[in-house]
Amino acid sequence: MTSSAHNAKQWDAFYASSQTRVPYTDAVVFALIALSRNPDARVFEFGCGNGQNLGFLRSVFPKAQLSGCDVSAEALIAGRRLYPDLDLFVSGDALRLKPASLDVVIERATLQHIPKPLAALYVKEMFAALKPGGRAFFEVASTDHGYAALGDGSEDPVFGHRVFYTLDELKALFADFQLDQVYDRRRALVEGADLNNGRPVYDEAAYQLYLTKPA
Ligand SMILES: C[S@@+](CC[C@H](N)C(=O)[O-])C[C@H]1O[C@@H](n2cnc3c(N)ncnc32)[C@H](O)[C@@H]1O
Repeated sequence: MTSSAHNAKQWDAFYASSQTRVPYTDAVVFALIALSRNPDARVFEFGCGNGQNLGFLRSVFPKAQLSGCDVSAEALIAGRRLYPDLDLFVSGDALRLKPASLDVVIERATLQHIPKPLAALYVKEMFAALKPGGRAFFEVASTDHGYAALGDGSEDPVFGHRVFYTLDELKALFADFQLDQVYDRRRALVEGADLNNGRPVYDEAAYQLYLTKPA
């Protein structure tokens, strides 16, 4: 079984019972800013799930060229039904993106579910696929995440494989890019219940990287 296929079964099971339609604000706002400057921009989302982020972008920018991939065929079946004019494809260990074809890449909470050596190959491919001057947003779980104590390669019953990154590791992973900004982004439940699949409450900690491919 390939490394990406390792994830597919678990994510198919997840999307068979859970279909969020809520766009993830920070990744979507990043793409919205780029699209407001160039409404024809080519935007690619790595790990797009059922297309909730791209679908929202489509509702605001009808002419944008929006594509995405996910390892879960189940997620993409839902994505194609909900948003028929998105270009969605199932990713294997390679993405087969056309070099220098994209203006914007967004990723949120996907690399953190992929073994690090494979994640590095995906990042190289996305770098090559960006046009010079193209922009990218990545959000990746940090070693301050509530589950980080479980360690790299731990298997979560709902979300599967997990890895956690230090800032230095991320800087090395994205060394080809110009690093514009990094945020330490935290989300902790203060009151109420975590209704996310009845799971225990945990602190999310992630780094957000705002990147440019040098011209
Ligand atoms: C936590 S979800 C995030 C989904 C979406 N980006 C969002 O903002 O809600 C992680 C996603 O990564 C996908 N994924 C896991 N391994 C992958 C791989 N090798 N290639 C592409 N997507 C993958 C999962 O199927 C899932 O949709």
